[in-house]
Amino acid sequence: MCGIVGYIGFRDASDVIIKGLKRLEYRGYDSAGIAILNGDVKVRKGKGKVINLENMLIESGIKGNVGIGHTRWATHGEPNDVNAHPHWDGKHNFALVHNGIIENYDALKKELTKKGHIFDGETDTEVLAHLIEEIELVGKVDFETAVQMALKQVDGTYGIAIVNKHEKDKIIVARKGSPLLLGIGEDEVFIASDASPIIEYTNKVVYLDDDEMAIISRDGYQVKTISNIELTKEVHELEMSIEQIEKGGYPHFMLKEIHEQSVTIADCMRGRLLPDQNKIVLGGIERVLDRLTNAKRLIIAACGTSWHAGLVGEYLFEYISKLPVEVEYASEFRYRDPLIGPEDVMLVISQSGETADTLAAIREARKRGALVIGICNVVGSTIARETDAGIYTHAGPEIGVASTKAFTAQVTVLSMMAILLGQRRKVLSETDAAAMIKALHEIPGKVAEIMEKKEEIDQISRLFAYAPNFLYLGRSYNFPVALEGALKLKEISYIHAEGYPAAEMKHGPIALIDEYMPVVVIAVTDHTNEKIISNIEEVRARKGRIIAITTENNHDVRNLAEYCITIPETHDVLTPLLTVIPLQILSYQIAVYRKCNVDQPRNLAKSVTVE
Ligand code: M6R
Repeated sequence: MCGIVGYIGFRDASDVIIKGLKRLEYRGYDSAGIAILNGDVKVRKGKGKVINLENMLIESGIKGNVGIGHTRWATHGEPNDVNAHPHWDGKHNFALVHNGIIENYDALKKELTKKGHIFDGETDTEVLAHLIEEIELVGKVDFETAVQMALKQVDGTYGIAIVNKHEKDKIIVARKGSPLLLGIGEDEVFIASDASPIIEYTNKVVYLDDDEMAIISRDGYQVKTISNIELTKEVHELEMSIEQIEKGGYPHFMLKEIHEQSVTIADCMRGRLLPDQNKIVLGGIERVLDRLTNAKRLIIAACGTSWHAGLVGEYLFEYISKLPVEVEYASEFRYRDPLIGPEDVMLVISQSGETADTLAAIREARKRGALVIGICNVVGSTIARETDAGIYTHAGPEIGVASTKAFTAQVTVLSMMAILLGQRRKVLSETDAAAMIKALHEIPGKVAEIMEKKEEIDQISRLFAYAPNFLYLGRSYNFPVALEGALKLKEISYIHAEGYPAAEMKHGPIALIDEYMPVVVIAVTDHTNEKIISNIEEVRARKGRIIAITTENNHDVRNLAEYCITIPETHDVLTPLLTVIPLQILSYQIAVYRKCNVDQPRNLAKSVTVE
């Protein structure tokens, strides 16, 4: 959460920064600000989106080749002009932007206040700026040392960038727990929270690790620890393209990303799923495959949509690989003294690879000796780098805050892993493996077929766009899809929605059902078919409005439901890859009817980098 962009070189820094901040707006859009170094440090900032900041800059005409910018997701202090970043020190010598949380800011603020510091706003970041100032002044140390000393005094997380009017042509950045990377060009260096702001200028990046800082000038950069030990960092080459991070004619990123899924699922399987050889090859976990194959249990940890993918994984690993699985909310994991040790394997799932709760779970598990494997989308992300081994989902950049193509790619990876483990653990017959591999291979084409149902889904969306509540029901593999459908609707339409295992309905939620309640039932033709038909009857008896996601040949469900969206048949274990698509489209279209900001829903940020 919060996005940082910085630039030093020969271009107009505000141009680079504004463009970059727009790309990072998915990380937060409560306020935006910029500091340009041109003799002095000029700051412009304010509540609202980057577009407001852009207008402010046009009016001010500030120009310069060195600057830093920020788009905020508020943690401490309401989203207003004063709390917008950058923040000043007391004498307005330098300006600082920050992503993360300074947890001991209150104690530091009290001490600094006693020493005469006056604060403009309520943010933890402003406290850090004043702390640096205090140390520089009292300790009579140079600015860089003051930054290092201050960072050693703060608890919590930070990605920071600072420009100082006395340090011409220099930007200081540092990282602990919040991502930051440098883009290395010819006579120019870019700074960003992720690669999207820099990809049009360079594909060479250096990822900062925790407790590292960089001193950046036009001629290059020097990376060191905050304890001043110089480091040589590897320069990575990115494979991302500019087209991948643009809307490509779609009104919203979310719609583009929903449409992309037939391609992204295929990309995720490319070179890994080998139907001709009845084989799956997952190079990223090759090294740890024996340990994974012999594991007694698997602990899956993730958040949000990735957690839902993890729940699908639980069904897959238990059914296909006969491997016991526990699925944990990453945010809960480390706070309950988890029983995990060297004989355990943890599997973490994260689109961004930067989710703070998931990272904390990884660190806890590794501290206790467990092997940790990651499923990540963002190449080079912190989670990808901190896990022992992993598999990239290769879904390409996901910009819409509501996750769509990342979910289907995660489930694709989980399906491949489950089949591979089933084969290696000798609990899956070659015939069954062949049926699953063939079915998986056919999924992209079937996803494309569902996209053709957009008009049909649109009609249903229009009818229910103003319903105050929704219930989503599913069983077995499709129970997590019910949760995911409900989450999508809540996130982008602000409609209250709940997902339930269909049979649980009679233990409570059935009390909610009346003639105004849309009930989305995922009812594919699998071993739960008869039971879910009974659940549909129970809803009908109470006049609930049934919208069924079902398979073409499921005539019983089609006869019972008021509205039906059909999907093609596939292997039972793979149905989540298809059933989720109509739910994504439904929530998208309802949000559009309700005139909601689909890609940037209120109060949310794409990467949740605070715990
Ligand atoms: O990047 P991650 O997959 O770790 O993110 C986890 C959740 O924050 C994320 O899935 C969130 O729930 C999405 N907004 C869901 O659409």
